[in-house]
Amino acid sequence: MRDIDVLLQEHRKFPPSDDFRSHAAITDRSLWDAASADYERYWAGEAARLEWMKPWTQVLDWKPPHAQWFTGGKLNAAANCVDRHVRPSTGSRRNKAAIIWEGEPGDRRTLTYWDLFIEVSKFANVLRQLGVKKGDRVAIYLPMVPEAAIAMLACARIGAIHSVVFGGFAPESLRDRINDAEAKVLITADGGYRRGGIVPLKRSADKALEECPSIEHVVVVRRRAGADGDEAFATMQDGRDHWWHRLMQRAPIACEPEPMDAEDVLYILYTSGTTGKPKGIVHTTGGYLTGCATTMRQVFDLREDDVFFCTADVGWVTGHSYVVYGPLANGATVLMYEGAPDWPEKDRMWDLCERHGATILYTAPTAIRAFMKWGSEWVTKHDLSSLRLLGSVGEPINPEAWIWYQQNVGGGRCPVVDTWWQTETGAIVISPVPGVTETKPGSATQPLPGYFPEILNNDGKPVPVGGGLLTLTKPWPSMLRTIWNDDPRYVETYFSKWTDRPDLYFAGDGARRDDEGYYWLLGRVDDVLNIAGHRIGTMEVESALVEHPSVAEAAVVGKTHDVKGQAITAFVTLREGKTGGHDLREELRDFVAQKIGAIARPDDVLFSADLPKTRSGKIMRRLLRDIAEGRALGDITTLADPNVVAQLKEQYEGSE
Ligand code: PRX
Repeated sequence: MRDIDVLLQEHRKFPPSDDFRSHAAITDRSLWDAASADYERYWAGEAARLEWMKPWTQVLDWKPPHAQWFTGGKLNAAANCVDRHVRPSTGSRRNKAAIIWEGEPGDRRTLTYWDLFIEVSKFANVLRQLGVKKGDRVAIYLPMVPEAAIAMLACARIGAIHSVVFGGFAPESLRDRINDAEAKVLITADGGYRRGGIVPLKRSADKALEECPSIEHVVVVRRRAGADGDEAFATMQDGRDHWWHRLMQRAPIACEPEPMDAEDVLYILYTSGTTGKPKGIVHTTGGYLTGCATTMRQVFDLREDDVFFCTADVGWVTGHSYVVYGPLANGATVLMYEGAPDWPEKDRMWDLCERHGATILYTAPTAIRAFMKWGSEWVTKHDLSSLRLLGSVGEPINPEAWIWYQQNVGGGRCPVVDTWWQTETGAIVISPVPGVTETKPGSATQPLPGYFPEILNNDGKPVPVGGGLLTLTKPWPSMLRTIWNDDPRYVETYFSKWTDRPDLYFAGDGARRDDEGYYWLLGRVDDVLNIAGHRIGTMEVESALVEHPSVAEAAVVGKTHDVKGQAITAFVTLREGKTGGHDLREELRDFVAQKIGAIARPDDVLFSADLPKTRSGKIMRRLLRDIAEGRALGDITTLADPNVVAQLKEQYEGSE
């Protein structure tokens, strides 16, 4: 309720400026009208903008909770993102920049659509030579380098399923993802640059591969300048490991794109859920590409000469949909940056925007709050007049950060689009369309055409105005199709919230709808944390903690953090004979970072003799959240031993 009260005080509104509207592609609500009248027909119209090898016979086959879109149709995602733009014609984009890339040390590369066509085709042939066939899984564990996009598109070209694993994940997280997907090939790099240092990806990969029996080959991108086989960063195993550039030297160019069924799997992307085991979200080809391409045009009002800067890593869904598939399907130019936003100075983002003439910036609230903290002088020393539109994604954006972004980065002239969506939705669902929507700071505003959200209460009753659970009431083309190897979990997680309505998708988010139909996202309602815009399951962190020999039991909760949105507080019960202290606290924080990745490192670790539990033994995280937030304790009547929580609260407050 606290969040709701805060947001209720936000009454500012920003209609699209006349200047923006006069150039915008969409300026009225006719698309919404068309989509509401017949949403299958609307989506079919959008899908028809892609290049199909064979037309579909049915737009939607909906057997809740399983949807198939554009059935019978055939297409290839890489051909749509690349080949289509290089064919000789008056509108050819063959010399247009597809990817403008800058490494953290300042090295640069620009790939035209023609360059991308050659690289993707050659690498597709490399994969084929390594024995990769249609339907095989390829794991990608790379820094933000053009090879990441090339590898993804090369997989798509031959019908292999890519599974990109964020380069910040630890070896064990990589191992689990490789094994769940049974990937045949891993593509990695000797390292990537981050804050002036090297992230030794190949070394982490080698550790993971000790327990990955399915991997037959490893392709290693040489990111480090210098001779092959820089031993410090990449030890190459004979027969298994190959340098990317060596394979590419010999690879032929000609490579026909594989005709893929609209419902063939394009990729798997793992995301956190409420259990310790990450979910392999499955996206298919035709619907996913339709969703990405359509929303890219509508939300970002895409124009031919835009330079689109999406700061997300390709390891997350935003990097899939709005660094690779959405922009490239539209023949746009994307700006890709490898490193940290504060390297070598805190103005790196603005320096990048200025030097490359970025016109659209799409980033996360956690980054915006960090920029705010660093001070607007880092922003204003650069000429950002090329920017015309700003986007936000990944977590609720507080009105203060929204206004700061609009004023300081956007110079008061750029519309701000706060875009709500998820790995599962594949593409943006709720967002302003900048030439049409009057924005309200802190609200993702209203659904895009063709999406039908609703707010329901726990019993499944609609809440037209007020707070409740966010649901999508109709299927949409880029929706997840299942969880890899675990369809029962798909049904259980997303379509079982309201038992009498197995057609309703449950997003896991709380939201409020105001009297003008605007959506205000309130965060997760399950045991999933959102740390700096990234989803982390409490169970994942708890499982990591209890693997430590000193830990008997652990419970993890999110605590409000002024930059990261949420930070992790861990409550830990030690084994008999162990005592907690500063050293063990630091050791446990590092232990979690090593097991999962630095993003999961708890900010606080609190040792406790006991954890608050119900009489049936369930840990009451709600009370732990109250303690972590320093709030008055909620209802404690169901506790087995009320003393436990009183002691914990005292101890926690004493430790601060
Ligand atoms: O809780 C919502 C939050 O991020 C979750 C999805 O996380 P992930 O699958 O990692 O995808 C992030 C990028 C799309 C959602 O369930 N979230 C995402 N965007 C917003 C948001 N919360 C509020 N406002 C947003 N704009």
